[in-house]
Amino acid sequence: MAKIAPSILSADFANLERDIHDIEKNGADWVHVDVMDGLFVPNISIGIPVVKALRPVTQLPLDVHLMIDRPIRYAEQFVKAGADWLTIHIEADQPQNNLACLDKIRALGCKAAISLKPGTPAEAAIPYLPICDMVLVMTVEPGFGGQKFMADMMPKVRTLRRLLDEVNPGCVIEVDGGVDAETCKICKESGADILVAGSAYFKATDRKAFVKTVQA
Ligand code: DX5
Ligand code: ZN
Repeated sequence: MAKIAPSILSADFANLERDIHDIEKNGADWVHVDVMDGLFVPNISIGIPVVKALRPVTQLPLDVHLMIDRPIRYAEQFVKAGADWLTIHIEADQPQNNLACLDKIRALGCKAAISLKPGTPAEAAIPYLPICDMVLVMTVEPGFGGQKFMADMMPKVRTLRRLLDEVNPGCVIEVDGGVDAETCKICKESGADILVAGSAYFKATDRKAFVKTVQA
C-alpha cells in the first residue's frame, strides 16, 4: 500500500488548520509542506514560522520539501520547527554541502531526503543514497502546483529503486507533481512509496475516496 501526502500548496492559506484537519480526517498519511525561496525556484511560498505553527495542529508527519538555495543554512531551523521528514534538492548546493546537510538532518533525529528535478539523472543521486531515508523524484518542474505529470520520469523511479536495493533497501521513494487518480497508478507500478498530491487532492469532489484510490 502506498502513502499519500497532500500538499498544502493548494490549500486555503487563510484556513490552513481547517485544511490540515481535513487531510487527517480523510485518512491521508503525511502533510507535504512546500517551501520556496524565490531563488531556487521562481516562486515564494511559506517558511519556518508556518511549519512551527502547524506542528501542534496535527499528529501526522510533516513532510517538508525545501526548494531553497543552499538548504544547509536553514535545515536545523526546519527540524526544530517540527519537520519529521526534510527534503533538500541535489541542485541547490555543492555535493559536500548536501552530504553535510543530510548528515546534520539525521543527527538532529529527523528523516533526510534528497530530491531530483526532472533534468537531473538518477545517477546524480548515487553519492547520497547510503545516507538518505527517502529520495524524491519530481514529476514536474518545482515551483508551482497544478502542472502536467511527466510520465517520462518513471524510468528514473525504477532506476533509483534498483540502485537503492543495492545500497539502502529501506530507503523509500516519493514522487511529487501532477499526481492524480490516474497518474498515481504508473507511479506505484514504477516503485513509488509516497505520492504527493496538491491540486488533485484539494479539487477532488470526494477527498476520502481520492485518498483511498492513491493508497490502494
Ligand atoms: C511543486 C511542489 C509540489 C506541488 C504539487 O513544486 O513541490 O508539491 O504542490 O502540486 P500538484 O499535485 O498540483 O502538482
Ligand atoms: Zn513538493
